Amino acid sequence: MKELDKDAGKVAGMFDGIARRYDLANHLLSGGVDFLWRRLAVKLCGAKKGDVVLDMCCGTGDLGFCFAKHSEIAKVVGCDFSEEMVRLARIKEEKLNIKGKFGDTEFQWATGDCTATSYADESFDIISCGFGVRNMADLESGLAEIYRLLKKGGRVCIIEFSLPKCAVCRAGYLLYLRYILPIFGGIITGKISAYRYFTDSIVKWDKEVDLGKSLEAAGLERVTVKPLSKGIAKIYVFEKI
Ligand SMILES: C[S@@+](CC[C@H](N)C(=O)[O-])C[C@H]1O[C@@H](n2cnc3c(N)ncnc32)[C@H](O)[C@@H]1O
Repeated sequence: MKELDKDAGKVAGMFDGIARRYDLANHLLSGGVDFLWRRLAVKLCGAKKGDVVLDMCCGTGDLGFCFAKHSEIAKVVGCDFSEEMVRLARIKEEKLNIKGKFGDTEFQWATGDCTATSYADESFDIISCGFGVRNMADLESGLAEIYRLLKKGGRVCIIEFSLPKCAVCRAGYLLYLRYILPIFGGIITGKISAYRYFTDSIVKWDKEVDLGKSLEAAGLERVTVKPLSKGIAKIYVFEKI
C-alpha cells in the first residue's frame, strides 16, 4: 500500500492549488450526486432551529450552505486550513446571500487546522465534515477535537468516501478511480497529482480505517451510518451523550 504524505502544509497547499476549479470538478466527477448526499446528511443530522454548526474542512462552503438552505440553524462557522478554499467560501456566501438563499443564518469563516482549534469547549450543536477527515494527518486528534467542541446531546455528521462491498461494483469503481478520475480531475483543475492523491487516499482509508469504530472510541454514540450510491461514500451521524 502506497505511503501518503498528509503533512498539513502539503495537503493545504494541494487544496489551494485546485480550489478555483474544485466545485466544478466535484459536481462533474460525481455526476451531481454530491448535492444529494449533502442534502441527505443535513436531513439525517436533524438540525434544529437556532443550532450553531461548525463545518470542519469546509472547503468552498457547500455543506455549510446546505445546512443554511435546508434547516433553520442560526449560524455556520466554516473552518479549513486552505486559505484559497476559505476565500472562495466567503465570495460564494456574498453571491448566494444576494439571492436571499439563507434566511437569517449567519456565516463565519476561519482559516486553521481543524484537529486543533481555539474554539471553546462545547460550543457547537452540530459539527459537520464533508470529505475532510480522510485527509487529516492525525485522525485521532481530529475526532478528539470534535468531541471537545460538541455540546452534550450534540451531533457530528461526517460524509466520507469508501469502496463498495459488492465485488463487481468495487472492481468497476476502482477502475474509475485509478484510470478515469485522475485524467478528468487533472484536465479540469490542471493538477493530476491531486486526483491521484484522491484515489490513493480513498483506497488506503477504506483498507485501514473503520470510522464508525474510531468515532465510538472517541466517546461518541452511533445514531446512523448510511451507505450512499452502492457504498462509494457513507454518512456517519454520531451523538455526544
Ligand atoms: C475534499 S475537500 C472537502 C471540502 C468540502 N467539505 C466539501 O464537502 O466539498 C477537503 C478539505 O479538507 C481540508 N482539510 C483537510 N485536513 C484539514 C485539517 N486538518 N484542518 C482543516 N482543513 C483540512 C482541505 O483543505 C480541503 O479543503
